[in-house]
Amino acid sequence: MSGLLKIGIVGCGAIGSSLAERILSDFRKEAELVGLYDIQIQNVYKLANRFNNMKLVVLNLDDLINKSDLVIEATKAESSLEIAKKTLSLSRDIMIMSVGGIIEHYLELEALAKEKKAHIYIPSGAICGIDGLKATACGRIDSITLITKKPPSSFLGVPYVIKRKIRLDSLTEPTVIFEGDAFSAIRAFPQNINVCATLSIAGIGPYKTKVKIIADPTLKHNIHQIEIESDTGKIITYSENVIHPDNPKTSYLAVLSAVATLKGVFTAIKIGT
Ligand SMILES: NC(=O)c1ccc[n+]([C@@H]2O[C@H](COP(=O)([O-])OP(=O)(O)OC[C@H]3O[C@@H](n4cnc5c(N)ncnc54)[C@H](O)[C@@H]3O)[C@@H](O)[C@H]2O)c1
Repeated sequence: MSGLLKIGIVGCGAIGSSLAERILSDFRKEAELVGLYDIQIQNVYKLANRFNNMKLVVLNLDDLINKSDLVIEATKAESSLEIAKKTLSLSRDIMIMSVGGIIEHYLELEALAKEKKAHIYIPSGAICGIDGLKATACGRIDSITLITKKPPSSFLGVPYVIKRKIRLDSLTEPTVIFEGDAFSAIRAFPQNINVCATLSIAGIGPYKTKVKIIADPTLKHNIHQIEIESDTGKIITYSENVIHPDNPKTSYLAVLSAVATLKGVFTAIKIGT
């Protein structure tokens, strides 16, 4: 099987499981899924069992990294920085899904990747417009605003919501539950608002990027609207995303955006900025 990119997945939840499936079905000629690891070991066995391949079970993170050329992180914001540091330190590439977890350290990770001749991939995730934003960032950006609307169930268990006694189950109309900069949004909603971390890294950073979060009981989809004002004009993008069947906090587009990023690793033609 030499010549194939060896991919290991950390986090066997909604995104990790969907990506494992797509790697096995869509990238057979280019990549080999070499291992699965999760802090909840039963999730690893469940997923390996689904593929009828117990050789995929890996019992610790270091072993997974050592087996892989590329590690896909799909865990949670509290873990992504440590996983990224370990992976890059061993000169392996990493794809980061829990982008909120690295927002204060992405420059440090970039320097480590450079030193170790490794790469960091951050898919666009659940938003559209990163292409235009990257181009705009080569000029002057005046402002970036993200407006995220999700069904109230997406925010269940979020400490910020509990602390402020926001009664998600009694909302009858769209309600603004957060307004501020991207840095504060990530702190308050680490698992719900990775997109504003991605947007900040691609644009003007987490302190200048503005965020509004709305819990909307009439919604069945997650909505992300981005407004960028710059010396090239105005960009407005609107994405209405189907929710991942296994996790209401996650948009299915996030999975496909990781699949598209992987495709970009293998294809000779690179389309888009
Ligand atoms: N970039 C984006 O646009 C985007 C979009 C949606 C979700 N996300 C993020 O991607 C991550 C995965 O999302 P999901 O929907 O698959 O979540 P999920 O809760 O379905 O799965 C996460 C899995 O990671 C495991 N895990 C947690 N900590 C771990 C650790 N330290 N080591 C190993 N495994 C660990 C959990 O046991 C679970 O199985 C989350 O952080 C989520 O916020 C990013």
